Amino acid sequence: MLRKALMTTQAEPVDVSQAKVTVVGVGAVGMACAFSVMVEGLCTELALVDMAGEKVQGEVLDLQHGTTFIRRVKVYGSKDYSVTAKSRIAIVTAGVRQQKDETRLSLVQRNADVMKSIIPQLVKYSPDCVLLIVSNPVDIMTYVAWKLSGLPRNRVIGSGTCLDSSRFRVFIAERLNVAPDSVHGWIIGEHGDSSVAVWSGVNVAGVRLRDLNPNIGTENDPEKWTDLHTRVIRSAYEVINLKGYTSWAIGLSTAHIVKAILGNTLQVLPVSTYIKGCKHGMDKEVFLSLPCVLGENGVTHIIKQPLTDEEKALLHKSANLMHEIQMGIKF
Ligand code: NAI
Ligand code: LAC
Repeated sequence: MLRKALMTTQAEPVDVSQAKVTVVGVGAVGMACAFSVMVEGLCTELALVDMAGEKVQGEVLDLQHGTTFIRRVKVYGSKDYSVTAKSRIAIVTAGVRQQKDETRLSLVQRNADVMKSIIPQLVKYSPDCVLLIVSNPVDIMTYVAWKLSGLPRNRVIGSGTCLDSSRFRVFIAERLNVAPDSVHGWIIGEHGDSSVAVWSGVNVAGVRLRDLNPNIGTENDPEKWTDLHTRVIRSAYEVINLKGYTSWAIGLSTAHIVKAILGNTLQVLPVSTYIKGCKHGMDKEVFLSLPCVLGENGVTHIIKQPLTDEEKALLHKSANLMHEIQMGIKF
């Protein structure tokens, strides 16, 4: 009654093209992803799912109470996957995380088992969605999600080395005293200990650092730029040892990927994708990060990034490691 007294109806609201995002797992990472997506105003609906029902309810209420200050978004959640129906993107962060000094790869079977309980449900309610996998080891979990989902490979993506490349650009930017988004530096391959720094391509405004320092990225570089890639690899362990987990950077990088997909921006980002048959003679059925063009239907293209023989060899080492571990997974 009050609503009628308050306003007259000019036109019934029409159902604009809903940009619905689901986040599975409302832990540290899931909520960092959800918060980042919300604050950037990327979606009109946000569904949260977790097996911890009360935790979901609490997170939903807490987010709802802040929606006064951001672009309108409907936030809801449940233990029941029916709330995820018609999602454009489903972000999967559920699973166990590394403890101090534990590697991501040690999580593989436990989180593969978690994927078995999640992926079929997501596909059942959103068969046209893009699956964006974050749970670790993310490259292998993306492969597991792809196998379990039956979705085309372009619509199963891992957050991959988007986070690693951000760390890489931040560290180079600090050393050069320029903004991180003005440093063009790519980490490819595994999101983890075998990641590959493409030193041959690092540039600022098109000026390749290797043209200024031919030894950059090698062991005989007096300026020891390789230390920055070592810092990238150690970043997770450093933060986990200090605060117990990482969350904010992965939340922001995941939202960056969501923005490219929902916005069909065709931005090129390092994300984990199916690489068998792509350039560099990749012959293993694995997911690793390469520069990918992202649109509304996921990965549209993989950029054929020139690599040195050494960089190619390291990428193959990454691929062989993933493949070897995948062979041991019990589906
Ligand atoms: P967390 O323990 O804070 O949250 C995990 C959540 O998953 C919990 O709320 C738990 O209830 C839920 N969960 C577990 N099994 C489930 C199931 N079967 N169904 C539904 N929900 C389930 O862990 P955190 O810190 O959020 O990390 C989550 C994952 O993200 C870990 O695997 C971690 O390694 C990974 N991660 C990945 C990064 C990347 O760059 N790809 C960066 C940081 C973390
Ligand atoms: C990272 C780990 C947790 O923050 O994947 O890179």
